[in-house]
Formats: sequence, C-alpha cells, structure tokens
Amino acid sequence: MSFPEHRPRRLRRTPALRELARETRVTPADLFDALFVVEGSGVREPIAAMPGVSRLSVDQLADEAKRIQDLGLGGVILFGIPSHKDALGTGAYDPDGIIPRALRAMKKATPELLTIADVCLCEYTDHGHCGVWDGSSVHNDETLPLLARSAVVAAEAGADVVAPSDMMDGRVRAIRRALDEARLEDTVILSYAAKYASAFYGPFREAAESAPQTGDRRGYQMDPANAREALAELETDLAEGADALMVKPAMPCLDIVAKARERFAVPLFAYQVSGEYSMLQAAIERGWLESPRAVDESLVAIRRAGADRIITYFAKDYARRHRG
Ligand code: PBG
Repeated sequence: MSFPEHRPRRLRRTPALRELARETRVTPADLFDALFVVEGSGVREPIAAMPGVSRLSVDQLADEAKRIQDLGLGGVILFGIPSHKDALGTGAYDPDGIIPRALRAMKKATPELLTIADVCLCEYTDHGHCGVWDGSSVHNDETLPLLARSAVVAAEAGADVVAPSDMMDGRVRAIRRALDEARLEDTVILSYAAKYASAFYGPFREAAESAPQTGDRRGYQMDPANAREALAELETDLAEGADALMVKPAMPCLDIVAKARERFAVPLFAYQVSGEYSMLQAAIERGWLESPRAVDESLVAIRRAGADRIITYFAKDYARRHRG
C-alpha cells in the first residue's frame, strides 16, 4: 500500500495514537542499577567521571536497597572496591570481603530485591588484570578456581545471581561446578558472554580503581571488530551452563544484541556501560543534548534491538520519571 491509501503520519498525530502504535516499552523492572561499594562508613563519594554516581560504604546500602526496591527496578549489580589489593586478588574470595558484607546488608534490608554479584578479579588485583598475571599475560586456567571461589562466596552471602565478567575461557563451567558442589545449584549464572575490549569502560575503571597497571585487556576481552565470534561466545557459555546472557557494551553493540535475541531463548541483558553514561551526561551538562529525551531514547533503542533487561547507571533516574 502506498500514499494516499497509506498515511503513516495518522498514527503519529497525538500522544494517545503514538501510544497505540508503540512497539517497545522500557519499564523500571527492565532496568538494573549498578553500585560501587567501598570500605569505611558514612561514605557517599561522588565519582568525578560519572556525574550522579557515587561510591557507597556498606552502611549506606540498606537505604539504597530500599530506594531501588521502592522504585521498582529489576535488581542491582554490585562491584566491590577493596582497600587492599594483591597479586591474586584474594579480596574477591574472602568470605568477609567487601561484596559478601554488602550482600548480607542488602539481603537483611530488602530480602526480595534481586542481587547480582559481578565476578571478576580486576578490582582486587594490584596489577589490575582480571586474572592471575604472569608478567605478560593473564593465565586462563589458574584464574578459573579463583573465579569459582568468588562466585561461591558471593552466593553463600546471598547473591541471587553471579555474573562473571572476566572473559576467561571455561569460567562458566568452572563456576557452575563449584556452585553445584557447594549445594548452591539454584544460584543463577548471568554470563557477560560477549564482552568487548571497549574504550567505553574508561570511567568505570576510575570508579572501581581497576585500570590495568601494564598492558590492556585485549588478550582476553573481544575485538570490537568481531560479530560471529560474539555468537560463538554466547553459545559456548550457554552450553557451559549460563542461565542468562549479557552483551557489553550496549549502544556500540546493538547488532550483536539483535543477533543474540534471534538466536537464543534465555533472558538477554545488555550493559549500558560507564562510558555510554558519561558521554550522555557530559553532552547534557553542556546543553548539547536534551535531557531526559536522549537518555530515554538510548534505553528504548537497547530494548528495541532485543535486550530484555538493561544494566544502566540511569536506572534510578529513569524509574523516578516513569513511576507506574
Ligand atoms: C570487570 C568489569 C568492568 C565493567 C564491568 N565489569 C570493567 C572492565 O572490564 O574493564 C565495566 C562496566 C562499565 O564500564 O560500566 N569487573
């Protein structure tokens, strides 16, 4: 059908008609907040490169968890920033480490709120790499048991979901086996299966003090030039026992999100990462982009591409503006 029988503008004339024609919605429950947890008490320390985001100490988390729950968000992912770092990232699998303490505090305050523990060594190692560093590269197989221990420790402290973000080969299988052996067979694994070596993680590394001291992450994270490889990674992680999959970053990878949605039936997450957030905030601060329209458009685009759920630093802001 073509003009004049067909007039696409008819369905765009009023807000109610646009509502009628809308294909994709973003609800607060689709969004997951990300929190940076630090040692100390009474700490709410703004992160310069991420306006509106702060590092919080454990005693702040009960209130924060209640806010997140009241806003109707889908849940929260936690990143720990320990005061002590060492070569093997021991803080990542210390049962009294920052994340287990954070999880216990949150589970006490809001038992129903879904908690995800990011599983990676980079925030805990003094060299800043995501695994055991041998001076020139990260040793894959020596890293696996450490990741598995971190996942068990987080699950024992109450994490509903563990989310490995290290990109070691075989980590999903290693984590699944360790969880099952510890009788944590109901703990969900959300795998950052297609995680690119992206420049858009820059502000996060400032926030989490996790920038590699030497070298970079291209020896284990994916080359942004590759798409088929991402599908292979997603497939492998599913076969190893992942319950849900994640693509990261989000906006630079909408093609990967769309392909993953077509191919896999499990819940699909996309992570709108720190650089995507900071880029929008910086342009909004300068008056170059209109807020909140630019933010909402970024989120609906990620949903439209096929992500069921989005991890985003805009989660609370979006939910405040779209309360049911
Ligand atoms: C690794 C991890 C990173 C992010 C999430 N998990 C950093 C990295 O791989 O360098 C980035 C998230 C963001 O940029 O918002 N633990």
